[in-house]
Amino acid sequence: MNNTNEQPLVEVKHLKQYFDINTGFFKSTPLKAVDDISFSIRKGETLGLVGESGCGKTTAGRTILHLYKPTGGEVLFHGKPVRTKQEIDEYRTKATMVFQDPYSSLDPRMTVSDIIGEPLDVHKMYSSKTERRERILELMDHVGLNSEHAARYAHEFSGGQRQRVGIARALAVNPEFIVCDEPVSALDVSIQAQVINMFDELQDKLDLTYLFIAHDLLVVRHISDRIAVMYLGKMVELADAADIYDRPLHPYTKALISAVPVPDPNMARSNQRIALTGEIPSPLHAPSGCPFHTRCPYAADVCKGSMPAFEEVEKGRFVACHRVKEIN
Ligand SMILES: Nc1ncnc2c1ncn2[C@@H]1O[C@H](COP(=O)(O)OP(=O)(O)O)[C@@H](O)[C@H]1O
Ligand code: SF4
Ligand SMILES: [Mg+2]
Repeated sequence: MNNTNEQPLVEVKHLKQYFDINTGFFKSTPLKAVDDISFSIRKGETLGLVGESGCGKTTAGRTILHLYKPTGGEVLFHGKPVRTKQEIDEYRTKATMVFQDPYSSLDPRMTVSDIIGEPLDVHKMYSSKTERRERILELMDHVGLNSEHAARYAHEFSGGQRQRVGIARALAVNPEFIVCDEPVSALDVSIQAQVINMFDELQDKLDLTYLFIAHDLLVVRHISDRIAVMYLGKMVELADAADIYDRPLHPYTKALISAVPVPDPNMARSNQRIALTGEIPSPLHAPSGCPFHTRCPYAADVCKGSMPAFEEVEKGRFVACHRVKEIN
C-alpha cells in the first residue's frame, strides 16, 4: 500500500444515483440506489465494497466510472474532476470495469481475439495489424491464456476462462483503475481463489488500483487493504480490512461478520454475534433516519428521527451510527 499522504487516485464526493420509478398514473418516485456516498482510493490500493444484494454496489461502481451520469456529487481522478465529455472520454481509457457474469457480458459469437481487440479498435490503440495482434497475445498472456485460445469463441470456454477473457479485455486500454464487480461470484468455488490470486498478481505487475465489489465478506478479505460497507444506498462503515473483521464498529458490519463462518469454533470472536433478521427494506421505501433502524438490535428513538453522519471515529475509520460510542 502506498504512502497515505499521497493524493488519492480516485475521490468520490457525495455521489448520488437516483432512478425514477413509475409508481402509478403520471407518478414517479426516485429510487435512491446510491445516496450520498464519499470515499477515496489511493493508488495501488484495493478497496473492497460489500453489502447485501440490492444495496447499490453495482450502481455505485457504474456511476463512479461515469457509465451512469451521477444524479449528484462528483468523481475526481488524479485530483481533477471528471465532468465534460472530453474528460469522461479520457477517464474511460484509464478507468474500466470487469463484470460479474462472464456468461452474459461477452458476446458468444465473437472470438477471444475480437473481444479483446475491440477496445483497442475503439480507442485506436495500435498502428499496424501486427501490433494489434501482438498486443492481444500479450493481454492473453497476462491472464494465463495462450495463443491457441485466440481464434476460439467465448461460448467454448469455462466460466473461469471466460472471466479471464473479460479481464484481458478490461486491461486492453491500459487502465490505472478497475471496478471489479463481483468478478468471481458466478464462478465455481473451486476456481474463485485462482481468479482472485490473478487479480492480486496483475495489480503488482501492472500497478493497478481496484474497487473490488462483493456480497461475500470472505471473498474480499484477502485482496482488500480497506473495506467499505454499504446498506440501502449509504456507506455505513469504512476501515482497514483487518479492523472490519476483528473489531467491526457499525451494528450492520457486526451482523455481516457474525454471518461469516469461523474456521476454528474455539476461537471466540472479540465482538458479540448479531444475527441479521428481517428482509432488507426496498430502497423505494427506505426507512426514515438511520436506514438500518428496522433491523438494528441497538436502535433507539434518535435512530428513527435523523440520519447519522458518516464520521471519522478513529484515524482513517468512518462510521455512520448515532450510538457507535455507546455500543462499542
Ligand atoms: N437501471 C436501473 N433502473 C432502476 N432501478 C435500478 C437500476 N439499477 C439498479 N436499480 C435498483 O437499484 C438498487 C441497487 O441495485 P444494485 O446497484 O444492482 O445493487 P447491488 O449491486 O448491491 O446488488 C436495487 O434496488 C435495484 O433494483
Ligand atoms: S444509528 Fe441507531 S439504528 Fe442505526 S446502526 Fe446505529 S444504533 Fe443502529
Ligand atoms: Mg451488483
